[in-house]
Amino acid sequence: MPKHTYIDKKIPPFNKIIQVSSDKSLSIRTILLASQAVGTSKISNLLESEDVSNTLKAIKKLGINYKKKNNHYEIYGFGLNGFKPKNNTIINAGNSGTLGRLILSLLIKTEKKIKLIGDKSLSKRDFSRVTVPLKLFGANIKSKKNLLPINIQGTEFVRPINYLENIGSAQIKTACCFAALNAPGKTFIRARKSRNHTELLFKYLKIPIKVKSKKQFDLIEVDGLQQYKAFNYSIPGDISSSAFFIVLTLLSKNSKITIKNVNINESRIGVIKILRMMNCKINLKNIKIYKGEKTADIFVKSSKILKPINCPSSLNSSVIDEFILIFLVAGVKTKGVSIFKKLSELNKKESPRLNIAIKFLKMIGVKVKRNKNDIKIYGKPNLNLKKKYHVKNFLKDHRIFMMSCIAALTLGGSWQINDRDSINTSFPKFLNILKKLGAKIN
Ligand code: S3P
Repeated sequence: MPKHTYIDKKIPPFNKIIQVSSDKSLSIRTILLASQAVGTSKISNLLESEDVSNTLKAIKKLGINYKKKNNHYEIYGFGLNGFKPKNNTIINAGNSGTLGRLILSLLIKTEKKIKLIGDKSLSKRDFSRVTVPLKLFGANIKSKKNLLPINIQGTEFVRPINYLENIGSAQIKTACCFAALNAPGKTFIRARKSRNHTELLFKYLKIPIKVKSKKQFDLIEVDGLQQYKAFNYSIPGDISSSAFFIVLTLLSKNSKITIKNVNINESRIGVIKILRMMNCKINLKNIKIYKGEKTADIFVKSSKILKPINCPSSLNSSVIDEFILIFLVAGVKTKGVSIFKKLSELNKKESPRLNIAIKFLKMIGVKVKRNKNDIKIYGKPNLNLKKKYHVKNFLKDHRIFMMSCIAALTLGGSWQINDRDSINTSFPKFLNILKKLGAKIN
């Protein structure tokens, strides 16, 4: 496969029904929870991508077997703290912050020495956000400057904690909930609102969890050392992957798309709420509840010029992975100035996405003003690009690659977008689906 992608034609009008890849957050969480259950769990429609295959490899190295059968994976768990690794086992989380942070939380009681490593992008990301609470649980963790590689060796003396998660990070909240599984007694987490898949999975698995919802925070209580049974789960489509096709459609002419069976958990659909606030028409059909999670088919059409937005920062965590697409829409489909605030978390992703998104918008001629972590985007509707554009040096961030393809296919110009294999971390079928919609991509 060539390393880079070349696009020099807009996508012709399309009217199609598609299915995107399965949800990454749920895929990683269900594998890790199955690894701590007693018995054989069956997970169907698991996302087949590098972040998820690294999760499977990680549990395997920790002594948990799994098998792929037709459309499902069987995972054979030995119960809580049931990992049986060799001493000095190395776990490679690859590109995945979620895997890296969550696996540490399941190792706080594992008696052998484990070293966690990752790729170039993950090795630049701060782990103190999870090592701080995990050390309070009693974990022995060593690292230089809170970066990978991290060495962890479990302790017998795990204790429950009382923790304030003030960033709105589901990875931190989940690390605390997972660590609480091995702590005797009640762990209390006051967590700024973020995606709540872990809490819903705990409820479904009958792991004792109580959640009190306040305006900006959730008060979470987990009762530890309560073994749960193996389970079956079918993973729905990923809203973060769907977002590329929602935006592709609304930026294209005379087009329509239906995206089947997508997870529309309230804490994940900031992208839909924000686009609707900008006047975009998005319909959700066939809404269902599956094991506590909401799913739907998403229907979108090409859009007229949209309204700029003063985006409430209370929505930030629910749109964290889709912000770069919202910035693109604000930049090329609105008339007026859009405002986004408190974006510091965006620079802590697979790449510094805030910096890169601003550079990207300026490259295509959209004016952006930045004041620390707040930005103003001056919409320039009806852009018709003619020049050559080269997207490079983005630390192989899959979402920057995919957002660039959507821009290239809808705005004109002649594009080289580097590092196409970046999509393998979350959405290997991305380019194939674009081609099925009629995109010409080399
Ligand atoms: C994720 C949480 C988010 C998100 C990431 C996946 C998860 O990170 O950006 O892609 O599955 O919990 P933070 O929790 O750090 O915001």
